[in-house]
Amino acid sequence: MPQRPAKRRPIGTVPRNVRPTRKPAPPKPEAPPPKPAPVVHRYEADIAEGLEALAEEEILSLLGSGVTFEERVRKPGILRFSYAGNPFHLTRLKTVQAVYHRAYYPVPRPKALLGDQHFKALLAQIALVRALSPADAYQTFFLSAAGSESSVMQRLKTELGAKIGLAPGAEEGDLLLRLRHPLEGGEGWEMLVRLSPRPLATRNWRVCNREGALNAAVAHAMVALTQPAPDDAFLNLMCGSGTLLIERLLHMPAASVAGYDHDEQAIICARQNVDAAGFSEQISLRVGDCRHLPLPDKSIDALVGDLPFGHLVGSHEHNVELYPELLAEAARVAKPGARCVLITHEVRLMEALMSESAVWDVEQVLRVALGGLYPRLFVLVRK
Ligand SMILES: C[S@@+](CC[C@H](N)C(=O)[O-])C[C@H]1O[C@@H](n2cnc3c(N)ncnc32)[C@H](O)[C@@H]1O
Repeated sequence: MPQRPAKRRPIGTVPRNVRPTRKPAPPKPEAPPPKPAPVVHRYEADIAEGLEALAEEEILSLLGSGVTFEERVRKPGILRFSYAGNPFHLTRLKTVQAVYHRAYYPVPRPKALLGDQHFKALLAQIALVRALSPADAYQTFFLSAAGSESSVMQRLKTELGAKIGLAPGAEEGDLLLRLRHPLEGGEGWEMLVRLSPRPLATRNWRVCNREGALNAAVAHAMVALTQPAPDDAFLNLMCGSGTLLIERLLHMPAASVAGYDHDEQAIICARQNVDAAGFSEQISLRVGDCRHLPLPDKSIDALVGDLPFGHLVGSHEHNVELYPELLAEAARVAKPGARCVLITHEVRLMEALMSESAVWDVEQVLRVALGGLYPRLFVLVRK
């Protein structure tokens, strides 16, 4: 069949089924590259037994919603959690003793950690932790593990030391590694690397130490139990080396902060610590007997005291006389509703005194593990 000639289109017209061409659209601005998903790391915090709830509160308030606590393994004295943020934030925790970065290695025996893939992962874990501190903060390392004298562990230590450039430490080194089976059971090994060259409870401000000085993380927890406010008049009975005073100001500012101790040497020591902490202007330190304070009635919002336990400091016989006088004087200077948080091992004596007290209500008693003892934190409220 002969083909029909195609219809000619007049010049300058557009074919019916073709839309007129528009001006080309300007190029779309390039979408920013997607943010990398935050890396979630796992951690474990050592806490003085009895203070887990307070530490959990602090972790949540410092780190916010990026934290997920692991409920599966709840053990006294530890908190396990994952966190997606910068691990540096964890080094600012004040109620924990130490925090560790935790990594799981799916190996049947520690020897397999020497294999290329796992050894590299181990070095990366250590590098992540070391990056949180100045380069010269670490000189030595210590690997704590069951059977740490075995030839495999010795090899692991030698190869690690050579790679990370640190000498093996005699006891807890600057870099502390702990190798163990996972707490939840099952196969494999877990390596914990402490986030700081010293436990977090070892404060830089402590330039003067005294026998009986309070653990700073426990002191911080006591301060938190006073429910601090920035307009507090804060008093530390029997302040010793000043731990509670410094931790109070590390928690938040206060209208006034004062500490009394009848031992002049304690006050000299406290002054050195207070100066090192940078609080010389804010903290008033006085030599004085806490049974007769030069303070007006009802002038104090919050009180704390690390009382003589009767072991290292004082004796039980002396405490039987001292405690009632001290509690009466504390009640005199406290405003109604003021909180008074005391730590003591004289549990029965305190219970007896509180059961007949007309001036103090006991709000809470916490049993805390401390240096092999189980003293109590008494949270009292002035009636
Ligand atoms: C357990 S220590 C306090 C330690 C302190 N929290 C620290 O971190 O260094 C008890 C302190 O109570 C003091 N003390 C004992 N009886 C006192 C009294 N009647 N008045 C004032 N201080 C007293 C002692 O001198 C001692 O420093």
